[in-house]
Amino acid sequence: MINGFSKLNKQEKIAWLSTFFKNPVEATNDFSLFQCPNPAVQQVIDGFTENVVSNYVLPYSVAPNFLINGREYTVPMVIEESSVVAAASSAAKFWAERGGFHAKVLGVVKLGQVHFRWPGQPARLHQLFPFIQARMLKESADLTANMEKRGGGILGVELLDFTEKEPNYYQIRASFNTCDSMGANFVNSVLERFADSLEHWMTDFPELSDTERDIDIIMSILSNYTPDCAVLVWGECSIASFEQPALQLGMDARTLADRFATAVRIAQIDPYRATTHNKGIFNGIDAVVMATGNDFRAVEACGHTFALKDGQYKSLSRCTIQGDLFRFELEVPLSLGTVGGLTALHPLAKRSLELLGNPSASELMCIAASVGLAQNFAAVRSLVTTGIQKGHMKMHLTNILNHLSATAEEAAAAQHFFAHQTISFSAVRAFLEQLRDVT
Ligand code: MEV
Repeated sequence: MINGFSKLNKQEKIAWLSTFFKNPVEATNDFSLFQCPNPAVQQVIDGFTENVVSNYVLPYSVAPNFLINGREYTVPMVIEESSVVAAASSAAKFWAERGGFHAKVLGVVKLGQVHFRWPGQPARLHQLFPFIQARMLKESADLTANMEKRGGGILGVELLDFTEKEPNYYQIRASFNTCDSMGANFVNSVLERFADSLEHWMTDFPELSDTERDIDIIMSILSNYTPDCAVLVWGECSIASFEQPALQLGMDARTLADRFATAVRIAQIDPYRATTHNKGIFNGIDAVVMATGNDFRAVEACGHTFALKDGQYKSLSRCTIQGDLFRFELEVPLSLGTVGGLTALHPLAKRSLELLGNPSASELMCIAASVGLAQNFAAVRSLVTTGIQKGHMKMHLTNILNHLSATAEEAAAAQHFFAHQTISFSAVRAFLEQLRDVT
């Protein structure tokens, strides 16, 4: 146990931490190595969370050639997994040559809830609710004024009765337009104000009995499930236009399209496959969400609940073939922001947004969803043709070679040798050992 850890300065924190390691000096060096050389930037990063002792580095990559609604983007992606960026880039090019991705925002509604217990009759609460609602709206006006000036604000407030599931439990569900911000702070502040108004209304209303005044606010918080803050993205092309890439993959175009569509249907049928299929989609989406300083946990949580909306966990993407027309589409809820939060603070999040032309939140939804669809397309195309390991392990070879401290010459020899061999850690190690013995 340590008391007052948070009060120590960074050096003191690292010194305490270093005692956990076999080699405290090396550990101290590693934690210090990743400090940003610009102290002003480091200070900003230190402000993001508590007890910061170092920065955790992830690769920042870009995937060019994304044609979305007729506009070309070079998309920033932050992800550690090999092959993802290569796959996104290759799928982007494939679709750019076939009209690109088309994307439509289906809605931008954010949600929040005040959960409370009230011991009176449900009918009475429903009867009183219009008065309570009027007070909630009036008393939150100072918080919503700015958002309203930007074209957003509160869209609706409703009372939901859950007393059949939990004694005396009700919920106020409010919907919001938070414009270009993700809006978590705005929504939560308004909800807490709603909760105060609700409590005060109950205390002030003279016609309530003592029992009826006994309201118990359990919690007020946004919901990360935003099914009406969603985007539809699709690519469409003739099957004939698959001819060339299909031949390279050793198949005719119709067979490739049919195997692809079957694989997507399997992910509609089987939750085990659907989970992996959707993970591939989020490989793309999360990378853009991270690069733009958005909340990938919120996006993931929401996407997986959405995938379960029909009562069974399913693929978020769909594929149809009608005659010669191949259509691949993805419908996904995405609550993103391009102002506020980390978007303005993190130097590379700012750069990401600039690279994308400083998009609105809706435009960013279209971009992130397109990368998700591209990623899914590339993964399923590999799976139904060459298998995933071929491309994956080619990229992974670089990681293995780095891990085994291969020189540039050794790496080149290994790349050449493993172009036609099965890659595994032990095979690469054996190859290097043999090479080193010879030289
Ligand atoms: C790996 O990160 C993602 C895939 O497993 C996705 C999929 O199976 O569709 C390749």
